[in-house]
Amino acid sequence: MGEWGTMARMSKLDDLFAFLSIPSVSAVADHAADVERCADFLVTKLSSLGFDAKKHLTDIHPIVVAHSPKLEGKPTILIYGHYDVMPVDPLNEWHSDPFTPTVRDGRIYARGASDDKGEIMAHILGVQQVIEQDGALPLNVIFLLEGEEERGSTSLFEFIQKPEVKQELACDVIVVSDTGMAAPDIPSFSYGLKGLCCFELEISAPCMDLHSGVFGGSVANPITTLCEMVASTHDADNHVTVEGFYDGVSDIEQWEKDSWKRVPGMSDDELAELTGVPCLRTETGYTGAECVYARPTFELNGISGGYEGEGSKTVIPTKALAKMSCRLVPGQNPEDILDKVEAHFRKVCPPSVRMKFTRQHGGEAYICNPHSTWGKAAQKALEDTFGNPPVLVREGGSIPIIAEISKQLGKDALFLGMDLPDARIHSPNENMRVEIFEKGISMAANMLRLMASAQ
Ligand code: BES
Ligand code: MN
Ligand code: MN
Repeated sequence: MGEWGTMARMSKLDDLFAFLSIPSVSAVADHAADVERCADFLVTKLSSLGFDAKKHLTDIHPIVVAHSPKLEGKPTILIYGHYDVMPVDPLNEWHSDPFTPTVRDGRIYARGASDDKGEIMAHILGVQQVIEQDGALPLNVIFLLEGEEERGSTSLFEFIQKPEVKQELACDVIVVSDTGMAAPDIPSFSYGLKGLCCFELEISAPCMDLHSGVFGGSVANPITTLCEMVASTHDADNHVTVEGFYDGVSDIEQWEKDSWKRVPGMSDDELAELTGVPCLRTETGYTGAECVYARPTFELNGISGGYEGEGSKTVIPTKALAKMSCRLVPGQNPEDILDKVEAHFRKVCPPSVRMKFTRQHGGEAYICNPHSTWGKAAQKALEDTFGNPPVLVREGGSIPIIAEISKQLGKDALFLGMDLPDARIHSPNENMRVEIFEKGISMAANMLRLMASAQ
């Protein structure tokens, strides 16, 4: 698409930079006005392309819905994305300001560059490119862009239940680019996402931090007890010991195992190298890629309690806290897993401490058949743009709202990801390669044309 010219290229980056400059951090209350401004930015941009674009206010952050001019008898694709971003801390590790997009070594550095503003803008500009080159879109496009994905999509979960919303969002297929890509020249076509459930366990015992000599040995130490309880969730083979945890989990199919052996960067050695660990520690019987893509996991995300300051302080702390989450696979239900995890902790909790179990947000896993007509059209768009056929994978990451959108609308979701393993999403110096952004635009345009003639 080189003939689209330098001017167009410049303005494409301008559009992305304007989008990236808005600090739409959904988790931080002080940024609420920025999040809303970001929704307004999208409404303005999509309206300029002839879309009927609206900002729906919610109790938290707005949802943007935009429709292309209605073409009777043509398929409708719904493009999902999230315009909110993760917080930027630790700020001092960024080499340039997270909300002043900067190009260095062929990469655009900014919070949201790859998660998920770069992808949203690639789809919007893909639409723009088709309109400019072909005069009009060949099919119906709906954009559904939310501002709460990074904090659990609470408002969209409510919004998508409404009959009038379901009717308005009726489509043939859902397209998402908020997922991974194997390598710059090897696209990924994902047909699954992990589900998620998050929770906290607080263990408390003495009513204040105690002198560990005056009272030591006579009362339970909440940190020790918490560690014992947490350690009881896995056995020596790294299987999760929570009763019923694997109920409903299917075996990985042989074609999946075969296909995953060929995904660049995902061999056990490469995974160890990429993550900087001395060697992998997988669930016995599975490769690293199989664990990432298709095995449910139970992770400790943070643990705190007691004295963490300078020097030593000989206390028995009053309480200890662990923040945890499970990544789920098809067949597991987040509420049911929370019940089972809570029951496990109640069972192993000794009488010498008090426990408080708090449930947080979550969502179900998602999987679909990658070989549908729509799936094949999407894979062709990836192959035509990147020059190689996509690898077929399932994602280790989660977009908890997708299973719900797919269920409510009764359609498949396809993942044409643009996050490279070195995009540093959620980390300092998040980036997207300029080349991937530009190819992303072409891929989005190719996809629209191919999907118009699929079915
Ligand atoms: N885009 C990511 C999910 C993702 C990243 C999927 C890479 C596949 C490959 C999404 O924005 C995200 O970060 N999801 C969170 C869950 C959310 C509820 C905080 C996650 O997976 O931890
Ligand atoms: Mn994302
Ligand atoms: Mn994210």
